[in-house]
Amino acid sequence: MLFLHFIGFFPSPFGFLYVILHPEMKTINTIKELQTVLSGARADGKTIGLVPTMGALHAGHASLVRRSVAENDITVVSIFLNPTQFNDPRDLERYPRTMESDCALLTECGAQIAFAPSVAEMYPEPDNRRFSYPPTDAVMEGAMRPGHFNGVCQIVSKLFSIVEPDRAYFGEKDFQQIAVIRCMVADLGFKLEIVPCPVIREADGLAMSSRNTLLAPNERAIAPLIYAALFSSLDFAHMHSVAQTREYVEARINGVQGLHVEYFSIVDANTLAEVEDWTDAADIVGCITVYCGQKPIRLIDHIHY
Ligand code: PAJ
Repeated sequence: MLFLHFIGFFPSPFGFLYVILHPEMKTINTIKELQTVLSGARADGKTIGLVPTMGALHAGHASLVRRSVAENDITVVSIFLNPTQFNDPRDLERYPRTMESDCALLTECGAQIAFAPSVAEMYPEPDNRRFSYPPTDAVMEGAMRPGHFNGVCQIVSKLFSIVEPDRAYFGEKDFQQIAVIRCMVADLGFKLEIVPCPVIREADGLAMSSRNTLLAPNERAIAPLIYAALFSSLDFAHMHSVAQTREYVEARINGVQGLHVEYFSIVDANTLAEVEDWTDAADIVGCITVYCGQKPIRLIDHIHY
């Protein structure tokens, strides 16, 4: 990679500078090698940040990586398409795989290590552990995708045990995922800080997602209407009840041909319990999942009221 950068920029006078500013990132495929490298770093008193991902990286992932690079001596980014969290095999099959461009982006962000293990490396035996944190993991995504959060907890707990990071970075894009991981951290007693990072959006408001690349052009054109409806409901909510706001958002989105709301739940941001009144909680969030297009592609988003 270093060689390619040099060739790519040679004979530009900035080529050398580019190489200095973007030192080589190490790609590691085995737990053993990763732990050897990290135990050396830890012995030198270095702090470790972990950014778990499933690859197909975009600017949303990059924002987490840059934050970790700024806050830790070593940043490990895991790239692992975790089969145990996919309840729909078609979803796993069509999930985009872009390892080469992922590594280029991570190098540009200044990550030191990309950890890209095989399925056999992470699951030498079937993982029979069961995680259950009701109501946090039982509502919304938990209700619609049975087993999904169990798979997320399986892989994230493995990564936490292997890497032993000081901090782990997660995007608020997957709002419920952070809440479930916080439950797991408290349950298993991991000594690390969970760092939530804001949603990164496209210029038209669509939350960035690896799945966005699967949208056909006509689907991509209507997808921003999801956030537009959420955003306009902020004003609407000032003068209307929780129930009316829910109906307003659902009607706006379902009124667009090609979009279909799976659920829109207005919940206490901490407990994820549904609220009935705007005074029921200090931080209230509306979480939505929408099916877009023919295949269809499942898109999630949320907004704080
Ligand atoms: P993945 O979907 O690849 O996302 C990796 C991380 O990037 C998650 O914390 C996610 O919330 C964050 N992210 C994705 N899109 C974002 C955006 N537009 N803005 C900000 N952050 C964004 O989430 C997973 O993978 C998996 O469930 C994982 C935690 C890696 C376990 O397999």
